[in-house]
Amino acid sequence: MDSLAAELRDAGQAALWEHAEQLAEPQRSMFVVQLREVDWRHIARLYQAAVAPGTGTDAIREKARRAQPPERLIRLADVAAEHLQQARARGEAALRAGVVAAMVVAGGQGTRLGSQAPKGLLPIGPLSGKSLFQGFAEQVLARGRRYGTRIPYLIMTSDATHADTVAFWREHGLFGLADEDVRFFCQGSLPAVDAATGRALLAAPGQLALSPDGHGGLLAALQRSGLLRELAARGIETLFYHQVDNPTTIVCDPVFLGWHLLKGAEVSTKVVAKRSAEEPMGVAVTVDGVTQIIEYSDLPREVAAQVDSAGRLRIWAGSTAIHAFQRDFLEQAAADPRGLPFHIARKVVPYWTPETGFVEPSAPNAFKFERFIFDVLPWARQPLMVEVDRSAEFNPVKNRTGADTPETARAAVQAVYRRWLREAGAIIGDDVPIEISPLVALDADQVRAKVAPGTAFTHPVDWSRPGE
Ligand code: UD1
Repeated sequence: MDSLAAELRDAGQAALWEHAEQLAEPQRSMFVVQLREVDWRHIARLYQAAVAPGTGTDAIREKARRAQPPERLIRLADVAAEHLQQARARGEAALRAGVVAAMVVAGGQGTRLGSQAPKGLLPIGPLSGKSLFQGFAEQVLARGRRYGTRIPYLIMTSDATHADTVAFWREHGLFGLADEDVRFFCQGSLPAVDAATGRALLAAPGQLALSPDGHGGLLAALQRSGLLRELAARGIETLFYHQVDNPTTIVCDPVFLGWHLLKGAEVSTKVVAKRSAEEPMGVAVTVDGVTQIIEYSDLPREVAAQVDSAGRLRIWAGSTAIHAFQRDFLEQAAADPRGLPFHIARKVVPYWTPETGFVEPSAPNAFKFERFIFDVLPWARQPLMVEVDRSAEFNPVKNRTGADTPETARAAVQAVYRRWLREAGAIIGDDVPIEISPLVALDADQVRAKVAPGTAFTHPVDWSRPGE
């Protein structure tokens, strides 16, 4: 007890200890357990970095001023068909050999959508109302079947999303995936601190205000859960990584995996042209010869707004947050004593104090500390950026209204399906509703096998269940 009290005092958190002393059992013991799980000296250092000029965000912004468009880039639109074919063949060979796993990060709180439920539960199937999770699971299942293998799917949750996510998958029989192929693992949490004082906030009496430690928390979480070892034992060499919010992600895309492997990359990222300087996307850049991603919150406005002689954004390459990682590279990164840097975000965090009771601030009042997985990029000797077709592959759900809503995403997935039908020679109007389950077709090639050229579709095309 004494050591915890001393640690809190030294870290400027004596008030937490005083609060603990006032609690009755069993609340007190539970609170002490929570307090012990935090490295308070580290939190104090992070707070110092957040408020000291010239460190933290300031340092990243300074670096961002030297940013150049990314080197080590492949633009798929410019690649000859024969090279595309080589990449596809390489990716397919890896899938067939069973050395690829998929991973989705789903620990975010989805506050912009205004829902308490994990984002992966969001109904997105235009006709079936299938969830984001189901769409991804069906892709994993279908791609495994196509290549005569089973693809493990790793689902990262956080304390905020774990219970609801696991319950949802179980209720739906893991969407047809085998028990041993689905792995849930929970990232860590960190306390939010008051921006003015650095004191940890309480969410309620006897309860710290905790939030997920960013998707960079996956390195520690993969290691803690034993999954890195399990993947190695299973012979997995490459991980396809994606976010939960983009229904047009081509999970385990063979072309992307193929480029990643052909180029001997340790990390690869799909990028698309940003719509505007203000679009909230991380950007792939090269700074002082090092290819990396700078988060939008760290990119100074004037740098984001620079244009070339043709009027195009100079820092154009928006990160889709779709990556491929070599497993052994992630293992090394997880063991790297440097650790990923922390990013500091000013956020609205509701809190409780004995004096004020519960408070819902109307402006950002707190710092949250997060790690980002893309900060492993500078550690790679061979990073790779692959520019893909934005309309086909990047249509995330971010907001309730405006851009990137559930409606825009549903429209985008239907546009993809219509394009597949048209590539197969079928005729379909832009107003004909359509849904194609990955278990029916994963791409235009599989649609071609199902429809005769010239077939006209005038009624809703509901291929949302297998057997269509
Ligand atoms: C993210 C990227 C941005 C990229 C954009 C593409 C970050 C920090 N930024 O922005 O560079 O251009 O997506 O759509 O990722 N998540 C966790 N644990 C956490 C926090 C987030 O698993 O602690 C997951 C979320 O569930 C989600 C993803 O990470 O799947 C992205 O999180 P979000 O905060 O929505 O990122 P964006 O700001 O949209």
